[in-house]
This record gives sequence, C-alpha cells and structure tokens, in this order.
Amino acid sequence: MTSTANSSFLDLATGPAGRAMAQPMDKSLLEAFQQHLTMERNASASYFAHSIWFAERELRGFSKYFKEESHNEQIHAATFADYLISRGQTVILQDLPVPRQSWTSVEEIMAFSFQLEVDVTSSLHQLYAMAERSSDMRTTVFLDPTIDLQVQSEHEFAHLLGRVKLADNQASAMLIIDGELTNGLHAPAKLA
Ligand SMILES: [Fe+2]
Repeated sequence: MTSTANSSFLDLATGPAGRAMAQPMDKSLLEAFQQHLTMERNASASYFAHSIWFAERELRGFSKYFKEESHNEQIHAATFADYLISRGQTVILQDLPVPRQSWTSVEEIMAFSFQLEVDVTSSLHQLYAMAERSSDMRTTVFLDPTIDLQVQSEHEFAHLLGRVKLADNQASAMLIIDGELTNGLHAPAKLA
C-alpha cells in the first residue's frame, strides 16, 4: 500500500478523547447516557446505605442482598462507562446526592428500591427511544440485553416487596425472609 492510499485514513473522526470514532453520538443521547450512568451510581450508593441500615438491625440476609445489589449497580455504571469509551466519548462523573439513611420500616425500604428500579427502567427506555430517533443502532443493540436484565430486577424487587408485605412487620416472618436472603433465595416463582 502506498503512502497516498494510507493518508486517506488519517482524518478519521475522533471523539473528545482523541479516540477513533465509528459513528458520532447524538448530543442529547450522550447527555442522557451520562445522566443514566449517574443513576446507576446513585442506585449503588442507595443500596450500600440499605446494606448498612440492615446490618445495624441484625438483618444480615437483607444486608448481604443489598451489598450485592450495590455492587451490581457499580457494574452497571461500569458497563455504561465502557460503552461510552468504546464510542470514543469521555465519561463525565457527576455529583451524587447523599443516600437516604432514615426509614420507618423494611417495607418502606423495599418500596423505595422497587421505585428506584422502575425509574432506571424508564431511563433505559428513554435512551432506547433517543437512540432509535438518531438511527444509532450500536446503542439499541447495546441496550437490548440491559433492558432485559432491568425488567428482571423490577420483577425481583416486586417479589421481595410482596414477601415483606406478607410478613406484616412480624419479627418471626421477617427473620424467615432474612434467612432466605442469607442463602441467596431472592428469585420470584418461575412457571416456565
Ligand atoms: Fe442497575
């Protein structure tokens, strides 16, 4: 190959970090991605706070469950960071609010967590719609499995909230659920 042939490749589009970029990202989609990454980090901080709340109240199964969920949310944030880098973008870390640490009941924490998962799903749906509008198929393909997993998370939190409601604040029932969570039993019933 001659140097003339090579030179046509030297003006490839690059992102803000100077990395080669296959397809630029729509500006508003990129901003929404940065905000979504913050949502995942915020969920991680909230679940870490829940893990502490339960540890302080001897509910070690709930504490373990939320410690793992906190870690999972970090991984979600990292997955979004990886994706932005792969698209030649710079990851912008934003301020996180101090997580809430005061709760009146286990049910309140589980209801809050369920709503948090619902909000994350809505954010993913918004990203998907924006990606479709800007014909960004790399992004819709990236989001597909993520949305699948997120809907499973909603299902799981709805299940745990339901079990906590069944316990009706009775210590003995709550300790049974806590024991289940210690043993990693948090999946809803599966019929298929
Ligand atoms: Fe997440």
